[in-house]
Amino acid sequence: MSETPSANKNQQEARLHHRRTMCPDVTNVAIAPCVLVMVGLPARGKTFMAKKLTRYLNWIGINTKEFNVGAYRRDKMGDYKSHEFFRNDNPDAMEKREQCAMTALNDLCNWLDSGGEVGVFDATNTTRERRNKILQLCTNERCYKTFFIESVCDDPTIIESNVKEVKISSPDYKMMDKEKAVEDFQKRINHYEIFYEPLDEEHDRPLSFIKIFNQGEKFVVNRVKGHVQSRAVYYLMNIHVLPRTIYISRHGETEMNLEGRIGGDSNISENGKNFAEKLKEYLERENIENLRVWTSLLKRTKQTVENINAPKEHWKALNEIDAGVCEGMTYEEIATRYPDDFAARDRDKYHYRYPGGESYQDLVARLEPVIMELERQENVLVVCHQAVARCLLAYFMDQDSESLPYVKVPLHTIIKLTPIAYGCLVEHIPLNVNAVDTHREKPRVVSKGRSFDEAIRTVPVHPK
Ligand code: ATP
Ligand code: F6P
Repeated sequence: MSETPSANKNQQEARLHHRRTMCPDVTNVAIAPCVLVMVGLPARGKTFMAKKLTRYLNWIGINTKEFNVGAYRRDKMGDYKSHEFFRNDNPDAMEKREQCAMTALNDLCNWLDSGGEVGVFDATNTTRERRNKILQLCTNERCYKTFFIESVCDDPTIIESNVKEVKISSPDYKMMDKEKAVEDFQKRINHYEIFYEPLDEEHDRPLSFIKIFNQGEKFVVNRVKGHVQSRAVYYLMNIHVLPRTIYISRHGETEMNLEGRIGGDSNISENGKNFAEKLKEYLERENIENLRVWTSLLKRTKQTVENINAPKEHWKALNEIDAGVCEGMTYEEIATRYPDDFAARDRDKYHYRYPGGESYQDLVARLEPVIMELERQENVLVVCHQAVARCLLAYFMDQDSESLPYVKVPLHTIIKLTPIAYGCLVEHIPLNVNAVDTHREKPRVVSKGRSFDEAIRTVPVHPK
């Protein structure tokens, strides 16, 4: 049932009152929402990090939203004309910029007050005056924890490549030719440089922050407070921006796949062997530099990569979802023997935990170290399983937890992920080797009174 606006307001005020009673030391309140404030000159990777961090925090189950002031500016001001708008001796434009920033910050606060956990405030925030305003509103008035993330970059080649590869494709420059856009963007940076006050280890000693120098060459970390901030710091210290490709594939079809049985540790079928061969040939054709191959500990993934000539690592964390008492059964058998469980899974597949086994939510927690290590690596092929691949893909594709368990990951198809701008390009490459379809769609309506046979009949189970 949806809440009335006044019930919502009462709830927000009660939350704020609770935080206030815990103040002045809000930093010790575990439940306090957190604001992550980006800091840095233009083209320093703030939006890149803000978006990536938001995607990561949501994936690990922390409700996070980013607020990009550039988008608010475009919304309020319409089409961008030139760098003149960013001059500090242009009081009219300065006022408009400040209004946009404050509108975005207020929206962020309102979102946190209505139940959000982490708000990412993506603007330059390059002056102390602006950062003090943020602290006043977020920490003093609203009792949130505030953490600054500053990107400092003085390597001209990095800045030039950021401008050329990402910034001039921004909506601001859609009407300008490339050379003009690069020139304009440089002038925009120059306007900010005049008043830039970086976070200072001495002066800003009481604040919580991380400073990232030249894309992670060096870090300074100060007064990290609480779970969210330490997760954010750990994550930011592991990501990199080198070009690379991640390949995700399921194992070759197995004997149990052919029977429609879930889980287990069976061998790959003839089709599966065929796929293993095609996968090896594909990788040879691609000639991927320093490719590493990761599998689970289960036979089907190891057999799939047996003949691939590359260093291999086998992770227990990559094993398929543990179906507990349902291991080895078909979906039809589960529906007959455990009808309540079968219906409960259809109602909320992400949170449903098999008796004696795991849920998708458990799986995400188990896969977090894999994601962190993938962030650190360059070219990697991950050969895993249906549910595991769904969780990994949901991270890269920013899928929410409701759609995650239904992401389509057909057998005998390579999924190629290439980082581009703020996200990644996802390509499905079927290797054209026959296989059964193990995907089971969410039944459209699964009501309490409905028979489970009926529920099963409405979806194709293992169509050939
Ligand atoms: P603006 O203030 O104009 O919005 P920005 O600081 O948000 O600029 P981005 O749009 O995020 O800059 O720039 C994207 C580029 O930054 C990407 O090419 C990415 O490779 C690069 N990048 C990512 N992290 C960093 C970092 N820590 N330092 C410098 N560049 C980075
Ligand atoms: O059917 C193959 C399989 O990998 C099973 O081992 C696993 O239980 C299942 O897929 C996961 O898919 P779903 O969560 O849709 O049942």
